[in-house]
Amino acid sequence: MQETSSAKPWAGRFNAPTDAFVEAFTASVDFDQRLYRYDIQGSIAHATMLARQGILTAAERDAIVKGLEAVRSRIDAGDFAWSIPLEDVHMNVESALTADIGDAGKKLHTGRSRNDQVATDVRLWLRDEIDTIRGEIQRLQRALLDLAEREAETILPGFTHLQVAQPITFGHHMLAWLEMLERDRARLADCRRRMNVMPLGAAALAGTTYPIDRHYTAELLGFDRPAENSLDAVSDRDFAIEFTADAAILMMHLSRFSEELILWSSAQFGFIELSDSFCTGSSIMPQKKNPDVPELVRGKSGRIFGHLMGLLTLMKSQPLAYNKDNQEDKEPLFDTVDNLKGSLKVYADMMGKVTCNRERMREAAKQGFSTATDLADYLVRKGIPFRDAHEIVGKAVGLGVREGRDLAELSLAELQQFSGAIGEDVFEVLTLDGSVAARDHIGGTAPAQVRAAIQRARERLGAEASGDA
Ligand code: ARG
Repeated sequence: MQETSSAKPWAGRFNAPTDAFVEAFTASVDFDQRLYRYDIQGSIAHATMLARQGILTAAERDAIVKGLEAVRSRIDAGDFAWSIPLEDVHMNVESALTADIGDAGKKLHTGRSRNDQVATDVRLWLRDEIDTIRGEIQRLQRALLDLAEREAETILPGFTHLQVAQPITFGHHMLAWLEMLERDRARLADCRRRMNVMPLGAAALAGTTYPIDRHYTAELLGFDRPAENSLDAVSDRDFAIEFTADAAILMMHLSRFSEELILWSSAQFGFIELSDSFCTGSSIMPQKKNPDVPELVRGKSGRIFGHLMGLLTLMKSQPLAYNKDNQEDKEPLFDTVDNLKGSLKVYADMMGKVTCNRERMREAAKQGFSTATDLADYLVRKGIPFRDAHEIVGKAVGLGVREGRDLAELSLAELQQFSGAIGEDVFEVLTLDGSVAARDHIGGTAPAQVRAAIQRARERLGAEASGDA
């Protein structure tokens, strides 16, 4: 008897229909339809393998492949009626196929279960998304490199405890963010590598009695290998958790970065200006230009941290193997990907248009005795032990605080009352430019080092783009 296309494929052992609310409550098609291209890609590979193993005929395979491609085109075109009674993307696609091509469609699910199917689909999807995300990180890194190059000599105060510490270059500061993003990108590459293992063939949980060739299916789908253990293959969601953990770390970085951009673009700092196209005004205060984009990215870090906690909690008590709980992995994962991609995109665009207020930054670096360490280092070079030098400079700073003058604004005679070792040449080290130029070793803030670091970073990014890394 030919079933209608919306009949549940598993209805055989049931006597009563599903409660209407339960049907909607348990369905995932509203959100997992997003996976349809990967679902169809997995099914085409599965059918191809089945035919090669003699489990399907070549004619059945051809009908299935053509039929799945037609279903895909219909979904692409928005000409597909998703059905809640058919629960999820997998059964929707399969039912449409069977409605179109008849009995051959009913053979597609041979040697397979939705359990290994969904685990495969999500991996295929996330693999592509990771590639896109890594590309977006690179785009942001390139924007930071351009900015660092433009501002390699721009001096601003470096802070510890948000108190002026030592002068640094703006280029150097941008390269700090570049390094964090480099680790984020590498973490995602690791995640992708570990994830790129194929669940198909695990079937419901124990494997299948058909003579399948999992190596062949894995090759067709670009997986490195079939998963070793069928129970693990259908129930593992660590790949999703690992990805979300990587995303959470990345968002933590963007959130810190946002905090600086927000502070720096305030009237009190005035170090940078964000382009008007990345800010909004206030409906009541005409003078306002609000840094909404960095604020929103900072805010979005919260939901992504939440998704990480949600996924960990989702998994923590599940016995082997598949449980319906796992259906709850998708929405947090989708939301993480969407918000991460959005945050990276807006950041790459925004950082390409930041303008620096060099004078404001230099003025700020002059305040707060940012060259005090340079004076101590100068005294050490004159033979004074560092701890004594520290004490001497502390006293000089004390005078400066009382007088409201920076160290460079004290006279030689005033400085000499604290140490006879101080000579006329001290003023070279008390200048901001002298201070940053002196930190001239790999990883230091000197403009020459910033330029060399930019060069190395560009080579690293270029090598990866051409596939060498
Ligand atoms: N929609 C399900 C999920 O996302 C697909 C797998 C369903 N498997 C099952 N045995 N009910 O996890």
